[in-house]
Amino acid sequence: GPIVVDSVAALRAQIRDWRQDGQTIAMVPTMGALHDGHISLVRIALEKAERCVVSIFVNPTQFAPTEDLDKYPRQLARDLDRLREAGAHLAFTPSVAEMYPAGFATRISVGGPSSGLETDFRPAFFDGVATVVAKLFLQAAPDFAIFGEKDYQQLCVVRQLCRDLDLLVEIVGAPTVRDSHGLAMSSRNAYLGETEINVARKLNAVLHQTAAKLASGADEASAISEAVGALIQAGFRKVDYVAAREAVTLGPWRRDRDGRLLAAAWLGTTRMIDNLEIPSA
Ligand code: PAJ
Repeated sequence: GPIVVDSVAALRAQIRDWRQDGQTIAMVPTMGALHDGHISLVRIALEKAERCVVSIFVNPTQFAPTEDLDKYPRQLARDLDRLREAGAHLAFTPSVAEMYPAGFATRISVGGPSSGLETDFRPAFFDGVATVVAKLFLQAAPDFAIFGEKDYQQLCVVRQLCRDLDLLVEIVGAPTVRDSHGLAMSSRNAYLGETEINVARKLNAVLHQTAAKLASGADEASAISEAVGALIQAGFRKVDYVAAREAVTLGPWRRDRDGRLLAAAWLGTTRMIDNLEIPSA
């Protein structure tokens, strides 16, 4: 199975050994509760580089006080089994004290693609993500890091972070892994009951219909408000946003550029996100 280390010093020592042997390294940052979406990132990492490092760390700084930090699923033994099956070489499982020792006082704040969408509802979220991802990249110094399109805005923010701070990490985006009904795999799907799963599966279906409408020339504002209505009709309790954006900057959508349709909605007390490419006309 993978080597398991929980200190930055041990991580660096192993990486240094691999580097001395001339090996390249790909990193997959995660918060654990690993599912097939995470494992697909490990597979891509193993295609890109000779060594694959997976971090498992439920990062408290990206959770608001009202959010699910305490109940976020933690299942390290099972995660390590999955990483062994997938052939990952190292699991980095730091404690909160290892990542944020007493007196920790730095925060990285990325602008650009982090404005709006998630930030309108989770204002400190991307600061928390950017800070932990920057730390992980400085700790492991990987050649590649793999991020899922499932968290599309996060992928854009991480690309911006690396560009702005001259981090020598190539960010690789990976397609969203879905169940046979189109539901994006998520650790938070574990919160859903059987009836809720059926509602959850409609999020992707509504995004599909809406993206197709937009691609075939529908008015943006009407297509979006129809999508919100369809989600409420399907059984979502509240829709935080459905938005069409330019795919790279996440600025306003333009029909002459690659577009992305993004959404966040509540199913009971569970918040779900998904996104799709808007096919170009
Ligand atoms: P987590 O939600 O565990 O996700 C880890 C990585 O797996 C992210 O890059 C995410 O986009 C990807 N992922 C999740 N579900 C996926 C799916 N269905 N298909 C493809 N990829 C999927 O995202 C985080 O953790 C954290 O914010 C983190 C980046 C680790 C920083 O704490």
